[in-house]
Parts: sequence; structure tokens; C-alpha cells
Amino acid sequence: MAFDIDMIKKVYAQMAERVDKAREITGKPLTLSEKILYSHLWDGNPDKAFQRGKDYVDFAPDRIACQDATAQMALLQFMQAGKKTVAVPTTVHCDHLIQAKQGAVPDLKRANETSNEVFDFLESVSNKYGIGFWKPGAGIIHQVVLENYAFPGGMMIGTDSHTVNAGGLGMVAIGVGGADAVDVMAGMPWELKFPKLIGVKLTGELNGWTASKDVILKVAGILTVKGGTGAIVEYFGPGAKNLSCTGKGTICNMGAEIGATTSTFGYDDAMERFLRATDRADIADEANKIRPYLTGDDEVYADPEKYFDQVIEIDLNTLRPHLNGPFTPDLATPIGELGEKARKNDWPLKVDWGLIGSCTNSSYEDLTRAASIAQQAIDKKLKPKSDFGINPGSEQIRFTAERDGLLDVFENLGATIFTNACGPCIGQWDRSDRKGDEKNTIVHSFNRNFSKRADGNPNTHAFVGSPEMVAAIAISGRLDFDPMNDTLLNEDGQEVKLDIPVGLELPPKGFEVDDNGYLAPKEDGSSVEVKVATDSERLELLEPFVPIKDSELQGVKLLIKAFGKCTTDHISMAGPWLRYRGHLDNISNNTLIGAINAFNKKTNFVKNQFTGEYGGVPDVQREYKAKEIKTIVVGDHNYGEGSSREHAAMQPRFLGVAAVLVKSFARIHETNLKKQGMLGLTFANEADYDLIQEDDTFNFVDIADFAENTPLTIEIVHKDGNKDTIKVNHTYNDAQIRWYREGSALNLIKKQNA
Ligand code: F3S
Repeated sequence: MAFDIDMIKKVYAQMAERVDKAREITGKPLTLSEKILYSHLWDGNPDKAFQRGKDYVDFAPDRIACQDATAQMALLQFMQAGKKTVAVPTTVHCDHLIQAKQGAVPDLKRANETSNEVFDFLESVSNKYGIGFWKPGAGIIHQVVLENYAFPGGMMIGTDSHTVNAGGLGMVAIGVGGADAVDVMAGMPWELKFPKLIGVKLTGELNGWTASKDVILKVAGILTVKGGTGAIVEYFGPGAKNLSCTGKGTICNMGAEIGATTSTFGYDDAMERFLRATDRADIADEANKIRPYLTGDDEVYADPEKYFDQVIEIDLNTLRPHLNGPFTPDLATPIGELGEKARKNDWPLKVDWGLIGSCTNSSYEDLTRAASIAQQAIDKKLKPKSDFGINPGSEQIRFTAERDGLLDVFENLGATIFTNACGPCIGQWDRSDRKGDEKNTIVHSFNRNFSKRADGNPNTHAFVGSPEMVAAIAISGRLDFDPMNDTLLNEDGQEVKLDIPVGLELPPKGFEVDDNGYLAPKEDGSSVEVKVATDSERLELLEPFVPIKDSELQGVKLLIKAFGKCTTDHISMAGPWLRYRGHLDNISNNTLIGAINAFNKKTNFVKNQFTGEYGGVPDVQREYKAKEIKTIVVGDHNYGEGSSREHAAMQPRFLGVAAVLVKSFARIHETNLKKQGMLGLTFANEADYDLIQEDDTFNFVDIADFAENTPLTIEIVHKDGNKDTIKVNHTYNDAQIRWYREGSALNLIKKQNA
């Protein structure tokens, strides 16, 4: 059901050959990351050495995973490709749309009522196109992937930033935008800039209160939220072998918080134990046959400075437990120093909630270590001073933890067991104890603690720690509590101390589950009807984009000249708009509402050239659309930076914007514009940005000759009749020009499949 062993055998068979070839070509020993990258080249055997941080390379990932929020538009697009099934094994996981409030049973029931149309759509589209579907309540995407699909040496992409979690089982797993996932589902290659490499050497062994989480909390403190950008972080050394597989997953998971492309560990005994415990002995057997290929070469690890772009060393023997925060996951403070820091910064010392779970820390081991602290509180007659909430990572973990009495321990302490889902980690939390924007503190074992993330309150100070530290602090109710040195007063008025946590790497009686929540797709889904109600507010089937005719590029009107920073969030805002991410028409009502109009420095206030009146960007654009007039968006530097959200390209395209002309693009957004069949252009002379006036009309005089490596010419007609003619550059290659001419990349794929 879950994985295809023949596919994995094939990956391993080609891995040996390709790694040997890559060693020969690069003339050096290889890191694990390079082995996985070179063995997943789209073109097969490596024939050149790639420059890290420079070369763009096409890859062939083994798997795709999508979560319910991002899967909607990805799958609506995939339906446009005219394929019968996905080209690469794919799964969809319903975990983001379930709000935590009263506990697992009522919360899941409510989610199934409020989001049933989305779940029904995802289930039906999965069934039709050969996609594995994990129902609401089945678990959090990355925990389910680790338990069922991740395998050493594999390459995976997923439409969620914490896809990187699968590095805990030796994968190169990378979070991508929906458009990239759609390409791979449709049988196209996936492009990535060949990453730089950061090596983290771990020595010693975790002890006392220190957990795997503290490794990444420490690394985040060293590298900061941007330190891993464009790099794969590869962990190695004797300390790495002493960490459990799920602990490695935790470390890789939070690699997203330092901006890393992904993180990974070499295959070892802990991974083998996890594979066998999760019913995948056959993968372990196969992996054992090619063990040296599933880790970096000895010469690399013996002299890491020579082979990595940066090396960090951490001694687990002396590593201290940390809490990171508030408001940023890289503000690392060792326990014991937090009280002083909190008093200095006026962070509330009283802790209101302790939350355990999320894709980062919801494994069996995490629950046992936290439960060992909870049990001590019961035994030592300590009443928790904070509220407690638990989100198990998967139904398999929840069922096993219930069987083994772990959930009873938490419940005896008054904890609420929420659904096996993201819940408070993604702001899906109807917090009962506080409303409004009161200043308060919470501790959690999640990965992100940005302002408003958990409960929407900008004054909630959220601190990130290991599950056992979260449990201890929640019991004490104080941010400055140091369980290694401090005592607590129990119900009998006695001073008691918490002992160090103990946990179990894996359940001694094995994992067990009744219904894991998985629905396999039909062998032949051709007769399955995709469920989308015609009056739905949240979902809408897509219509193929119509190619832009050359004649439509004469008399193009300026929609907005954006001033300064214009990220994908400014182009397609998140927040409440996320509700409409499966409905292109509805979500288009947020198009460019965050961009600053260069002529009046206001947002969402642009001139309608026909009426002379000002209005919101989407409203004005819809009026142009009604008149069948194409428009152009002009922008500054690094236009479209930020998340890789494909909506930021689809919405302007849908509304009738034909071209985006900027000083420079964020590359992913530029590619997304190309994929949607629009023109993404840059000023040949940046100063020409200043020529653009509010009432300008644009004529693309040589668009008929649109060709690779050839700039285009635009005539700008100003209101007073004066004209400027400018040159604009583009980076379209022949294939991408065909996307443009066909109306979109998906239109071309469909044509090729016909
Ligand atoms: Fe979900 Fe939070 Fe992970 S939103 S996928 S649990 S980062």
C-alpha cells in the first residue's frame, strides 16, 4: 500500500552507478547530499560537475507529498495537464484544516463539517489520478511520510516547507510551491539551483534533559533564520549515530527555520530500527546492501572543511537544553539563563499553555519523554500551573500511545488531546483562555513561533523547546523554571524536584493501529468524478488560459507601477484569503492589494485610465478585463520574492494582466509567470522605470519576433502624446516561449498528451 519496493530497488540500483560516475567526474569524494543529488539527475548519469550555488539543475524526484491547504490549487492545475495518473507516486494529507478547540473527537467532527467540500474534492481527485489520500485525522503530513514513505537515499518534494523532515530518514526532501509539484506530477523535471553544503559534525551523546530538539535550537542560534539559505545541511559524526530516527527528523524539520534547502543524515542503525519498526524491513534489507552509498564518504567526514562550504561542530555531551524565542526561532537561550533575559525584556514569566506536537515533535519517543515528566508530576503531587495540549503526529502514534497508557498519563494531568493534525502550530486554535491581544506566554514543541502564528495574538510570546522541557515548564507554570536545578512546591507543601526524563525510542510492543486513515486510489480512476460544487466559494475548476494574441499587446494599459518591495504576499495576500486558495476567481480579489502604488504611495489605490477614478487594484483590473484590454504591472527590484506561491502568477494572469516589467525578479516568481503563459520582462536600462507615468499605454512593437536571447521593444505612449521607446530583456528559452504561445505550460503538456 504505502511504498513501492520495486521503485526503491531501482533507485538503489542506479545510485551505485551514478555515484561512482559522479566521483569520477568531480574528482573527489562525495558528501551524502551530493550522492543523492547526482543520482537523481533528470538526464540520468552525471556528465558534468555542477557548481554549488550557481548551476540550475533538473532533477527527477522519487515522490511528492501535498498537504490539504496547498494541494487544492496544485491538483486543480494538475487536472489541466490531461494526464490519466500522476507521473510520480504522490500523497495528499489532510492536516491543516482542523481546528483545535475541545479535543480530538468534537474537533474532527467540526472540521469534517466546515471543510467537507475541500476534503471531498481532495479525496475524489486523489482517487481519480492515482494519488494516495490520508483522511482528516490520519496524521500530520511529515510524520506520516516518515512512517510510511521516506527512505534512505531518496529524493522527495512536497508542497509544505517542513517536507525537509524526511531528512531524518536519510532523504533529500525539499519544500516547493504548488507549480513545481504540478510539473513533477505531470512528468516534467524539477529544477533546483545546485545547493551549497553546510556540514554539522556531532560528537558525544545526548544526556540528562538535552534532546534532539536542542541540537537544532543551538544550530538555529548559530546560523540564524537566514544562515542556511541555498544550502543543504548535512549532519555526521559519532553523535549523529546516537540520535533516534525521529530525533533526526526533528533536527531536519527545523532546518526550515534557518532557511536551509533541506537537511539530512546518513543511513545508520537508528534508521534501520525505525524502518523495521514501521513495517518496512524490506527497505532496510535493500538499504543495507548499498550502505556506503547512503552516507557521505569517509574522506569527506575526516576532513570536512575541505568538502563543505561551512562546518559547525557540536558536542552533545556538553549541549544544554534551550528554549528559543519569542517571535523568532533563532533567539536561542539555554535553560537557566532565560529568567534573567525575560525580566530584562519584560517577557511575561507566567506560562499559560504548554503545547506538545506538530510535525516537529510528535513521535512515540517524544510522547514517552514528555509523559515521563507528566507521570512524575502525578506521582509527586504537582498540579500543573499551565494548560496542556497534545497533538499526536499520526493515528498510528496515537493508537499506540493510547494502548501503552501514555495518553492516560497526559489526561490524568488535565491535558487535552487534540486531533492528529497541525492545530495550534498553524494557527488552527480556538484558544479558550484568552481573547484579544493580551500579552502572555506559551511554550511549545513546534518549529515556528512568529508573531500571531499559534493564536493570532501579536502579543503571545511563544517559546520553542523539546517536548519534555515544554512539559516541565507547563507544570511549573513559569518561563524561568530550570528543572535541572529548581524545585517545585507540591500539594502537600513539600519541595520536589523533577528527575531527568526517560523515553523509549520505539514502542517495545511495536506500533499498532486500527484504521490508519489511508485511502488507496482506484486502479483505474477514469470513471471517478471529481467533486466540486458549482456554487462553491472555496473551490472552482480551472479553465485553461487562452494564449495572449500579439494584437492584444498593442494599447496595453498600466495597472500599477509598484514601488519598492513587492513580495508574493503583496501580490497574493495570505491570512483570511487562504480560505479561497482553491477558488481562483475569489482569491483574485486580493491581487496586488499589498503593493504600493508608486504615484501616490498608497496600497490598493490605482487609477482607472478610462474613468480617471481611483479604486482597488482588483476592481480596476476587472474593469479593464470587461473591456478586453490587457494590462501591464511595473515593478522594482526582486519583484515576487518570498514564498513560491503560484497564486501570485495565476491571479494576475486570470484577471487579464499580460506582462510584468520590473528592474529584477525573484527567480521562482519569474518562472511561475512563464508557466502561466505571461510575459515576465526586465528593463534593459533600469532607469527606464522612471519613465513610466500613471496614464501610460504600451505597445509591444516586435512581439511577433519573440525569441530566445533577443530583447523586446516597447513603445510607451504618454498622456500628452509623447512617446518613449525602450528595450526590455527576458530569459525565456525556446521551450518557455512555447509555453507562452500555448497560453501556459500546462496547455502545452496537455497538447503533447493528446
Ligand atoms: Fe503542520 Fe505545523 Fe508542521 S502546520 S505541517 S505541524 S509546521
